[in-house]
Amino acid sequence: MVKAGVYLVVLLSYLCCYDGYKILVVFPIPTLSHGILGEGCVRLLLKAGHEVTYIAAMPLQDTHPNLTQININKKQESKILKNITNFINPHLNTHFNFDPFHTSLNSTKTVLENEEVKRLISDPKQIFDVLIIEWFFSEVLSGLSAVLHCPYIWLSSLNPHWMILELIDDVTSPAYVPSYNSLTAPPFTFQQRVTQLWYQIRVYYFKHFQYSIEEQKLYSLLIPFMSKRGRSTPISALEDMRYNASLILSNCDAAMLAQAISLPQNYKPVGGFHIEAQVKSLPNDLQKIMNNSKYGVIYFSIGSIVKSSELPDNVKRELMKTFSELNQTVIWKYEDNEINTLKNVHIRKWVPQQSVLSHPNCILFITHGGLLSITEAIYFGIPIIGIPLFSDQYQNVDKSVIKGFGKKVQLSSMIAHDLKIAINEVLNNASYLEKAKEQSRIYHDRIVSAGEELVHWVEHVVRTRGAPHLRSPAITLSFYQKLYLDLIGLVAVIFIIIAVIVLPVLHSYIANNKIVKTNTIKTKNKKNNKIVNSQSLKK
Ligand SMILES: *[C@@H]1O[C@H](CO)[C@@H](O)[C@H](O)[C@H]1NC(C)=O
Repeated sequence: MVKAGVYLVVLLSYLCCYDGYKILVVFPIPTLSHGILGEGCVRLLLKAGHEVTYIAAMPLQDTHPNLTQININKKQESKILKNITNFINPHLNTHFNFDPFHTSLNSTKTVLENEEVKRLISDPKQIFDVLIIEWFFSEVLSGLSAVLHCPYIWLSSLNPHWMILELIDDVTSPAYVPSYNSLTAPPFTFQQRVTQLWYQIRVYYFKHFQYSIEEQKLYSLLIPFMSKRGRSTPISALEDMRYNASLILSNCDAAMLAQAISLPQNYKPVGGFHIEAQVKSLPNDLQKIMNNSKYGVIYFSIGSIVKSSELPDNVKRELMKTFSELNQTVIWKYEDNEINTLKNVHIRKWVPQQSVLSHPNCILFITHGGLLSITEAIYFGIPIIGIPLFSDQYQNVDKSVIKGFGKKVQLSSMIAHDLKIAINEVLNNASYLEKAKEQSRIYHDRIVSAGEELVHWVEHVVRTRGAPHLRSPAITLSFYQKLYLDLIGLVAVIFIIIAVIVLPVLHSYIANNKIVKTNTIKTKNKKNNKIVNSQSLKK
């Protein structure tokens, strides 16, 4: 009886004080790593009792009573990843030519042209408390916030950089904040500093003047929906919505690879939020392999975009030979079956990476240096060997080398040879493991987990109606005001006035005066001369 009463009280308090919010989450990029972040965010929000609608290129595989999903991935993946072709060529020397701006427009278009999405945003009964949108080189989707009349939050997959900080505060200095795809990490040499500056100016120009025309076209697809929902408010322009984010949640952490640069109050580093406190247990076969490895396990994966099965055959053979000569067990994420494995090398098409890294026998992670992979390596305190392939991976690997828990190896036809030397060094020099453990300790020394922080800040935005108190005043000023170009202009005008009007007048006044003076002197002299002359004549 008492028990039933307790249940009733619990039920009632749940009903009257239910604080679940309705949240729309949009992750349009169809690659696994972006999907992992989206999924991590959605799971955290569901766990906190919120109701989530997820517009996703990589939807969750399982269902949840509070989750509605809209899958926008209709052969989108192949289209977007088309420009990876000829990356893996026999010489392994082409740089991965990946245009994130193009990818962004494509995936934004996929969202806006999706029938289910259109139905959702034109339905006046669909009311959301807050919107979480993945930022990926375009701000068109901020228009959803104007359609749905709710605050929005960016979620950024990268370390802080000027292009995203500009949206809530100001651009950063290229002298010490590298562009997202910089091939090196600071400190920069003079030449690198100049390169960074030039790159930033070029991309700034491109993004603000050329690219924004394309963005505007896509944004116009949203405008009919703004009036459709029966509100009489004026249409919001892209230029207003772009800078109206309440918050940026960023997949970064100073203990991981983000530099400790000054950040605006509404930039929240929550890197590592996608890692669940209780990692999933390994599949039985892998569990057995890892438990039984006497000399430890080396995990080798170059991520999900570039496939190690597409490496040239001779390189794959040499890698296999190098691995087979080691005492350690090697787990290789390899997307094909056609390779002869040797006793200590185990290939798997898919590997639960966090579970492998969290196993006490895991001693080394050979990775492409994707931010998520390095984040997980730090989380679990595993030293790395990085083989950077594209985008931010170069500077990620560079930073782990600087922090002392990583070693860099270049992708080349010599990779098997170089890798062997690197493996020997990392395994025989204890400082790599020490540094990895130390970095991990620094990351875990915090008030609450990154996941809890993420949920808190999302709720905070809802509770404070868009968190206007956290916004930087920098976004209310124009470029010229921040740089005092108006003052410089004013001073210039004053100088010009002085130069053009005051100086000539003064000059001619002085000149006139001189003429008058010299004339009088001359006449005086003449008179004197005359007197002298007449006197001398008299003599
Ligand atoms: C910007 O965001 C605030 C807070 O969410 C909101 O009140 C305001 O209407 C938004 N501005 C525009 C132009 O939509």
